[in-house]
Amino acid sequence: MALKKLVAGNWKMNGSLAALDEIKAIAAAAKANPGADVAIGVPATLITPAASAAPGFAIGGQDCHWNASGAHTGCLSVAMLKEAGASFVIVGHSERRTDNHESSAEVARKAEAATSGSLMAIICVGETEAERDAGQAVAVVTGQIRDSVPVGSTGANTAVAYEPVWAIGTGRTPSTGDVAEMHAAIRAQLIDLLGEEGTGVRILYGGSVKASNADELLHVPDVDGALVGGASLKAADFVPIIEAGAR
Ligand code: PGA
Repeated sequence: MALKKLVAGNWKMNGSLAALDEIKAIAAAAKANPGADVAIGVPATLITPAASAAPGFAIGGQDCHWNASGAHTGCLSVAMLKEAGASFVIVGHSERRTDNHESSAEVARKAEAATSGSLMAIICVGETEAERDAGQAVAVVTGQIRDSVPVGSTGANTAVAYEPVWAIGTGRTPSTGDVAEMHAAIRAQLIDLLGEEGTGVRILYGGSVKASNADELLHVPDVDGALVGGASLKAADFVPIIEAGAR
């Protein structure tokens, strides 16, 4: 049975109070398209204003610490994100795996902390171009799933985002055949890890999703949504992707 699609935006280090109008417009489009779930991960400074600007709309953070409190300068706990108004958190994005040297084991701790604290976790995985060229893409990504998705994750509290590193922000996307192959491999790995529950975890595709390719990508087998960076910043670009997810 097809899962309800999740179309999630990732604003990364973009946006200011001036962008709240975009959030309001995106939230209105989400309401008008109940066939898909919609969410936006914003910079932590915007969680509270965005959640107040769009009551009932899913606002999230882009990282969390696994500890509840303590000497971790610059970090945010799950409870802090939740108190600010977040309902989910993105963990293990490739930019954090690269820039902040986050390992899959750390990503799993973050995801575990998130779901224990009632935040949905969107756990990101994806191969580099060199890994794909070497024929290792499926092995790398299924290994990341095994090591980053905590045992005990459920379809209700966890989604996974497959984002080939070479497709992020580049305008390049894998063929639909390659996406289908990877999503099927991820599904099999999730079932291996979580049993029956693994059938209910949504697997999002991310990497250069835009209005012109969303319909095709969102209707590849085992693609249960999208994680969208650049094209989520403006409602005019993001709303057609929401509409594609709701179709
Ligand atoms: P992009 O980013 O849509 O700008 O390629 C996707 C992501 O990094 O989540």
